[in-house]
Amino acid sequence: MALPTIRELLKSTAPKTGVTARGWIKTRRDSKVMSFAELNDGSCRESLQAVFSQENGNFTETLPSLVTGAAVEIQGDLVASPAAGQKYELQARQVRIYGGCDPEKYPIQKKKASDEFLRTVAHLRPRTNKYAAMLRIRAELAYAIHSYFRNNGFHYVHAPILTGSDCEGAGEVFTATAFDLSKLGSIPKTEAGEIDFSKDLLGKKTFLTVSGQLEGECLALALGKIYTFGPTFRAENSNTYRHCAEFWQIEPEMAFYELEDNMELAEDFIKSITASVLENCPSDMELFAKFVEPALMDNLRNITGNKFERLPYTDAVKLLEPENARFDVKVSWGVDLSSEHERFLVENYFKKPVILYNKPKEVASFYMKLNDDGCTVRGMDVLVPRIGEIVGGSERENRLDVLEKRMADLNIDPAAYWWFLDLRRYGSVPHSGFGLGFERMMMLITGISNIRDVTAFPRVPGYAEF
Ligand code: 4AD
Ligand code: MG
Repeated sequence: MALPTIRELLKSTAPKTGVTARGWIKTRRDSKVMSFAELNDGSCRESLQAVFSQENGNFTETLPSLVTGAAVEIQGDLVASPAAGQKYELQARQVRIYGGCDPEKYPIQKKKASDEFLRTVAHLRPRTNKYAAMLRIRAELAYAIHSYFRNNGFHYVHAPILTGSDCEGAGEVFTATAFDLSKLGSIPKTEAGEIDFSKDLLGKKTFLTVSGQLEGECLALALGKIYTFGPTFRAENSNTYRHCAEFWQIEPEMAFYELEDNMELAEDFIKSITASVLENCPSDMELFAKFVEPALMDNLRNITGNKFERLPYTDAVKLLEPENARFDVKVSWGVDLSSEHERFLVENYFKKPVILYNKPKEVASFYMKLNDDGCTVRGMDVLVPRIGEIVGGSERENRLDVLEKRMADLNIDPAAYWWFLDLRRYGSVPHSGFGLGFERMMMLITGISNIRDVTAFPRVPGYAEF
């Protein structure tokens, strides 16, 4: 039976008799005549304090089972609480134990465990205050993203996860096959001795998508403004605080948008979803500001309250070159900027978000529109404090001849992209889009400093438990 959640009970406008609450015991403490248990059901950060006294019932048998981690149902009366910091408490009359818990063995103890340890018990860490708050904020952030686009005339579309194209052209793809790799001998081969993917289930070599962009472009050139919101996969062996092999990406794509419009949208979007979470999750956000990142609220005001700096790549290089002594990778024109450079620009120089654009074509994806200078492209990256790149996007090359030449220069087989090229043959228009990394956005909003801790079950090099 669906019961009111603890969140709803705590929001009651008046005391109530005969209520039932279910959840997990966080802690219990006993005085001579009474016991107090904190009951949490995940609906909000706050727990409901249940008070057990002999006047109200006989708890001699059940109390010993009311231990940290136990799943219970408590019936009683919701009354005004004399304790500070809580409006109501539950005067228990009856208790039912659903699932007991051995407090000696339960990995989630009251004392603060390290993030590293909690990753090894990712199946139980959602029971901690911090990870439950993180997951509620994740849900709220997803909702804010959908609302933003819905309110701005975008259609939510679904790009395929199994795809035959490598959007970023970086070769960092997970191959997806129905061949039984444990029986190598059974896999069909071509005459040249290579795996014959034409005999695979999908009839061609396929991958897990790295980005929904290419399919998103097809849909934007029919529906006008679209966005995808789905998992993307990268087989890059990057063991860093900001890379996962599986992450969620939000990719808006807009017909008739040029690079400047794309920048405007990205800035407004990031500000708007940040403000939305701040408004709707005050209690969970307070937890992060108090226990995770003391500067969190200042950092977020820095995002919502400042115009993002527009910085052409060539100007960025001029700012970075004199600082080369501090960087592992020295900057000169043509170098692909990495997180140390990005963070210098954002944290030390501008002290606010930066949109870096017009990068050299040599370090850019094939689909980015070539500038008239012939050597830079209309790509953009939004850089934010602590994280660096949070958004990557561009105006797309919509001229068939220029795109074909660029693909040829990069040895990309045009036959594999015939449908992508068709978009430039039939009713081509300027169009633009970008991808926001959902986990990086979560890092920005919560102040959590490792991407492994903003997703329930991270997939990173060497780790796919759970
Ligand atoms: O810059 P990226 O590679 O851009 C694209 O995939 C474009 N096709 C997007 C588009 O224009 N529609 O990735 C976009 C964003 C990055 O800025 C970053 O936030 C995130 O995705 N990202 C990752 N997040 C976590 N782990 C990884 N390995 C990531 N790689 C990219
Ligand atoms: Mg990028």
